[in-house]
Amino acid sequence: MPYRLTVLGTGYLGATHAACMAELGFEVLGLDVDQSKIDMLERGELPIHEPGLEDLLRRNLESGRLRFTTSYEEAAAFGDVHFICVGTPQKKGEYAADVSYLDAVVESLAPHLDRECLVVGKSTVPVGTAERLAEKLVRLSPAGAQAELAWNPEFLREGFAVKDTLHPDRIVLGVTSERAEKVLRDVYAPLGEVPVVVMDFPTAELVKSAANAFLATKISFINAMAEVCEVAHADVKQLSLALSFDDRIGGRFLNPGLGFGGGCLPKDIRAFMARAGELGADQALTFLREVDAINMRRRARMVDLARGLVGGSFANCTVGVLGAAFKPNSDDIRDSPALDVAVTIGQEGGTVTIYDPVALDNARRAHPDLGYADSALDAARGADVMLLLTEWQEFVDLDPEKLGTVVATRNIVDGRNALDAETWRSAGWHYRALGRP
Ligand code: UDX
Repeated sequence: MPYRLTVLGTGYLGATHAACMAELGFEVLGLDVDQSKIDMLERGELPIHEPGLEDLLRRNLESGRLRFTTSYEEAAAFGDVHFICVGTPQKKGEYAADVSYLDAVVESLAPHLDRECLVVGKSTVPVGTAERLAEKLVRLSPAGAQAELAWNPEFLREGFAVKDTLHPDRIVLGVTSERAEKVLRDVYAPLGEVPVVVMDFPTAELVKSAANAFLATKISFINAMAEVCEVAHADVKQLSLALSFDDRIGGRFLNPGLGFGGGCLPKDIRAFMARAGELGADQALTFLREVDAINMRRRARMVDLARGLVGGSFANCTVGVLGAAFKPNSDDIRDSPALDVAVTIGQEGGTVTIYDPVALDNARRAHPDLGYADSALDAARGADVMLLLTEWQEFVDLDPEKLGTVVATRNIVDGRNALDAETWRSAGWHYRALGRP
């Protein structure tokens, strides 16, 4: 392989990118300022749950292609291409994104760059960030203009991170020179036939914001239809199915339910609105305010449905909660709709017991005041109502008869429209779902 790669930041995105690039045959050095994270990764352990990633990490550690460090000096000396994979969280009390981790990476790396290299941003950023960082990079590097920036947004989904990285739908390259384009085309050549779209910095930054805004809008669209279905006694699941056969609409991201959460969609649409406002185009994105509001209303509606099933108040009620992660196949609880609902019910006086196949430890740490169980059956014991809030396959496969033997009352609210209503009803359950009669 002609280039040696570094990956700066070994969180979700960075750990995945580093292991996948090593898998493609590159020599990769991953860097993080958090020594404990580096220690874990060097032992072949992941700080996160991501199917398939730990195998990849171990295999490439053993082959010697993948190593880790906390030293920027070492990274600068090692790498020809440096991928920046740090987070851009929402600022406290504001919609805007906090890009300070990106600035910190450039400020730490640049003073050590003394030869030709490419620095590639992969984080989701407010449009305009790349141009500012490019200028900073040249100013702080001994290599000057030989140290060039490119922007290459990442579209991976948690739970499918390895697959999405090794088999992406498209590769977006924001570049300002032919050299940068060539280097990145070479780096991604082992992926085979993937559409590559080459553009300038601001367009590349915007592609990512636009993609997430579209996905969030699609989810909130179907959830808005669910609200109308609820008052019209219609069935949003059948409505969604019927819409999905229209190729122009498509069925993906059209699952009605508790709505979106996680570390990306909610904060990215807010950051996008904030940035458009700064640039004087706030009117263009006012619809995203509505997308956000529809999404948050689903959580309140879920609590209302559950409260209705237990007679109007959660006082002296036992509530069994299935799911804590923001979506299945992930242990991520950032802005999890499931935990948000559980916390509200707890605040209203309900006794909540939560079970999740992998996110329990994270949930316990974040909300030690709530109750937890080590199986769905244990979470259901004595429950006046069960809530399905994350559609893990394990929950879809639950036997309603068996679960029915341990609850106090056979009440269930399906927050993800994941269960077969008829099966549960014929087992004597009072089944309710969002957007369905
Ligand atoms: C998202 C984007 O999909 C990805 O391209 C980007 O890089 C990062 O943000 P992720 O946050 O991993 O990925 O989750 P995703 O699978 O997109 O789901 C987001 C949320 O939407 C979840 O809470 C999920 O439960 C919810 N969702 C998704 C729905 O409520 N209905 C759907 O039909 C689809």
